[in-house]
Order: sequence, then C-alpha cells, then structure tokens
Amino acid sequence: MKLDIDTIGDWKRTNDCGSLRRDDIGREVALLGWVNRRRDLGKLIFIDLRDRSGLTQIVFDEEFDKVSHEKAGILRNEWVIAVKGEVTARLPGQENPDLPTGDIEIKVRELKILNETEVPPFQVDGKIDASENVRLKYRYLELRRPALFHNLVMRHKIALGIRNFLNSEGFLEVETPFLTKSTPEGARDYLVPSRITKGSFYALPQSPQLFKQLLMVAGFDRYFQIVRCFRDEDLRADRQPEFTQVDLELSFVDEDGVMDVVEGMMVGIFSEILGYPVSRPFPRIEYGKAMDLYGSDKPDIRFGMELRDVSDLLRSSTFRAFTKVIEEGGVVKAVNIRKGASFSRKELDELSSLVSDSGAKGLFWAKLRRDGWQSPLAKFVGPDSRSAVEERLGAREGDLIIFVSGMAHVANEALGQLRIEIGKRLHLVTDGEYSFVWVTRFPLLEYDEDEKRYVAVHHPFTAPLEEDIPLLAERPKQVRARSYDLVLNGEEIGGGSVRIHTIGLQNQIFRILGLGKEEVKEKFGFFLEALRYGAPPHGGIALGFDRLVAIMVGAESLRDVIAFPKTQRATCAVADAPSRVDRDQLSELGLSLLCP
Ligand code: AMO
Repeated sequence: MKLDIDTIGDWKRTNDCGSLRRDDIGREVALLGWVNRRRDLGKLIFIDLRDRSGLTQIVFDEEFDKVSHEKAGILRNEWVIAVKGEVTARLPGQENPDLPTGDIEIKVRELKILNETEVPPFQVDGKIDASENVRLKYRYLELRRPALFHNLVMRHKIALGIRNFLNSEGFLEVETPFLTKSTPEGARDYLVPSRITKGSFYALPQSPQLFKQLLMVAGFDRYFQIVRCFRDEDLRADRQPEFTQVDLELSFVDEDGVMDVVEGMMVGIFSEILGYPVSRPFPRIEYGKAMDLYGSDKPDIRFGMELRDVSDLLRSSTFRAFTKVIEEGGVVKAVNIRKGASFSRKELDELSSLVSDSGAKGLFWAKLRRDGWQSPLAKFVGPDSRSAVEERLGAREGDLIIFVSGMAHVANEALGQLRIEIGKRLHLVTDGEYSFVWVTRFPLLEYDEDEKRYVAVHHPFTAPLEEDIPLLAERPKQVRARSYDLVLNGEEIGGGSVRIHTIGLQNQIFRILGLGKEEVKEKFGFFLEALRYGAPPHGGIALGFDRLVAIMVGAESLRDVIAFPKTQRATCAVADAPSRVDRDQLSELGLSLLCP
C-alpha cells in the first residue's frame, strides 16, 4: 500500500518535545518530531516523540480518537510526524522520573505523517551499535543521538563564551585566507591546484601564523579567529586533518601578556559553562624541568609521582646495568608508586614491556617490605644507598620503586609514559578535575638527523630568550625559546610564543635553519618585507579548540566533538571524499595523473 504523506499545512509547533511539564496539563498543543520508539498495546499505542530538546510520550487511544489511532498503527521508528492533542497527567505509577517530561503525556486528537524512512542502518535509540565506519557514513543519524548532540551544543556554547570574552578584552575577529602559500609548521600541506596559473598551487593553511603577524604589522593590536586549520599528518585520537584553533595575536606584550588573556578566558568559560572554579595564575614549569620531573612536555600534574634522578646514589652499586649507563653519561631515574608492593609479577612484566617499547634499556623494581627490599637489585645495592634512594623518593613500606636507566631523554620519556599508565591503572585522577599548567622555554631548535640540519621546535618565527641570543652562533641547541604550551590534564591544548619582530634576527634564524637566501625569499619574502615596515613587538598563541571541547565534555576522541569528522584514513565518510574527478576537470587545471 502506498503511504499518503500529509502536508504540514497551517500547523504550527506550539512546544518542543522536551518542554512540557505538569503545569501544562490541560493545554492543547502541537508537537512535531521523530518517532523514537513505539509500543503497540492494541487499543493504546504509545510513541516517544523526539526532537533535539528531548522526548514526550504520545498516546493514541482508540476510544479517544479512532482515526488517529488507526493511522498510528503503521508508524515506525524515525518517521517524522506532527500531532495535536491535550497535555494530560500520566496515570499514577506510570510517571517516568528519568524524563523531564515524565509526568505528562499527550492524548492525540489528530496525527499527520510528514515523512517515512528507509530502515536505518542502526537504531538511533538502540543498544546494539554499528561499526564506526557505518556510523560516520550515516553521521546525520548518529547526530540524532542525544549524547553526540549535547557535545555539539557544548561546542557552540564554548565558542560563544570565547568570542564574548575576547570581544570584551578588545580583540577583533579577522578572517585570513584559506587559499594561501604554505607556511612550514612541520606537517605536510594540503595543496589546491590553480586553474588560472596552471602548474601553481595554493596550500590550505596549517595555521594563520604569518597572516596574524601581518595583522600586528598592520596595527590591529589584538586579533583572534576561531579558524579551521589543515594538516596532512598521520591521524590519532587527538588529531584531525582539519581541526579548529582559537588563534590569538597581541602587540606590545611579553609572555605574561599572552598568558594573562588565556588564563582569563579559561577561568571564564570553565566557570560559565561547567560551573568549575579554575584558579589562576596557572602554574608554570620550564620544559627542562617538566621532562626531568614528569618525563613529558605535557605533564599531567593532577597526581604527583614525580621522577627522581638517583644516579649519584647508585654510582657505587655493583649493578653493572646501572653503573655502565652512568659511566657512559646516562642516568638512572626512579619513581615511587604508593602501595605498589602489591603489584603482581604479571603487572610488573606489563610495565616492563611498556618501558622497552619506548626504547629504554629495561625496568628494575624494588618492593619495600617490612624486612627491606624485595628486589632483583637487593644484592647489588648496599643498605646506605637503599635508604638514600627511599628518602629521595619519599618511599615507605608497601611502596614499589621503579628504576629505568638510559640516556636522560630516553629514561625520562620511558618513565613518563609509565607514570601516566600507572596513574590510569591506579585511578589517581578523579573525573571532572581540571588542571592547567604552562610549559615554557622549550628549546628553540632541535637537530633533525634525517635532514641533517636544525629545525625549529615551535616554528621559525619564535623569538629566542634574550639572554640566550649570544649562544645562537656556537651552541644553537642550548638556546631556549620564548615559547609556551598550555597543558590541560596531560594534553597539549595550545602553543604559542613571543615572535621575532626584527628582520636581522629573523634572517639569522633562517640561516641557522640552513635556508638559503633564495629559498627564504621564495617562501617568506612577503613576510620579511613586512618586518621592514615597522613591525611592533608581538606574541600569540593558538588553542586546539577541538581538544579543549573534548576535554570539557569528557569525550574520548576528537570525533565526538566534530559534526562531520574525518575517518582514520582521513576520508569524509558522509560525502565520500576524497574522490576521483573527471578528465576535463583535471585538464582545466593543467594536470594529468601518474596513477591510472
Ligand atoms: P601548534 O602547531 O602548536 O601552533 O597548534 C596549536 C594547537 O592546535 C592543536 N592541534 C591540533 N588539534 C587537532 N588536530 C590536529 N591535527 C592538531 N594540530 C595541532 C593543538 C596545538 O596545541 N601557529 C601556531 C600557534 C602560535 O604560535 O600562535 C600553531 O599552530 O592543541
């Protein structure tokens, strides 16, 4: 039988599906939405009607209105309907305390069927889930689910909170080009071929870095933009090929000036949106110290378990694995796990393989028992050294000390990862706790073994610390940057720096990066030229907006806070992009394909 689809006619929605309460009993209402679920009890048919605001129970009663009851018999989940009827109290005992509208139901006088549906590939309201690929392909169905919808509402509110705050602080939102030239920031560019200048390509911006600096040269003073950025890099749960930044730049400021604004913004949105009191100033820790204490440049400081260097205490031990590393310039680092002496052999083996995955030499342990160390190390480490180690780590009976040896950066990283893993296993962090920390003064440069040259750790426009400038020529590795990352609960949610604003220093940095005059001119000529026209001192930061939202809503993956995210293979599953284009399109761009 062919279904007659009704027209909406002059029906006007009087209420949202989530809005009716006991006070509305007796009112005549018109509701429109989707059939979330139906229960057919014969003379009575119950429908949960859904829109983005929630659910209302709708009742088709044969005795109350025969026509609509009969029509309701064919309704299926996810059909779109409109009903007119009366708000009535649910029978005593039939209330649903889990639903804000759970005290009432609508007794239907009239039903319109506005649309039917194919059988959905998964139940919007179902317990059994489809694979992520299917859910991403039919994202518009998945977005009907309240949890995901809620995340996007939160995203909207957070963006609005940020805009309002920055506006009140005198920032101007300015859009910068998407079709632009690549600014090297580590990742690969997405390229867009030009039709008019055949053989030339635009790059989609990895960030608006140079344009926001140009806005400072232009005298805009305080710029921001909530802006899409594009990076062709390998994906992880915390990365998307197109993602959003809250991008800021300020003139006539130092590090404090930038941090001050960001702290104000975070305090504001956390209080307004989550009702969470963030206290400021946020703690600051220099990069070197963060690596030393937490083995990470994005330390999770919600729990202690700091790493300690115990090389000096173990230098005189007879344990060759330690003494050899120390003689070769390496270190032995240790961490104390409170009450960890109860870890099983299996757990210790798991931790050990985690450490060897990160390239460190191996993990050694000591369980602190009443009668001393239970440890493979016990016979190699004398009693004085043992007590000194315990004292340095603040360890006591029942604890477990983990040691890792190796070159400092390897040992730090290995123990740092272990620290996070143990933090998770022992539930050392409480849900709903937010802890910000600034990590400052990263190295300006690092040596890239593949490229055989120095590369910028942040980007080439970052200013070196004034006092380290004399080291640039001889010991570039030791130069610290005027850079800062904002870390929230162990995740990097932002990074920025005070910039170089004089042409001389900028050229010097390019030289150290091994960029020839021609290359610099070709890649950054426009920018260097701008620096010649009265560039003010300036600095800024970009926050990873998707990451921030994900943490604020407690989402596991960035996909849960982006309406139409990319898949693991960087595809858009909804639109099936990227896809082939026809030959004419290619030839118009002056392109032909090497692959068939
Ligand atoms: P940076 O490259 O550190 O700095 O980026 C700033 C912040 O953006 C977030 N982020 C990402 N989020 C999701 N997916 C990605 N692929 C991704 N890549 C980065 C991170 C990061 O901290 N122009 C400079 C900023 C400046 O100096 O002002 C920049 O882009 O949270």
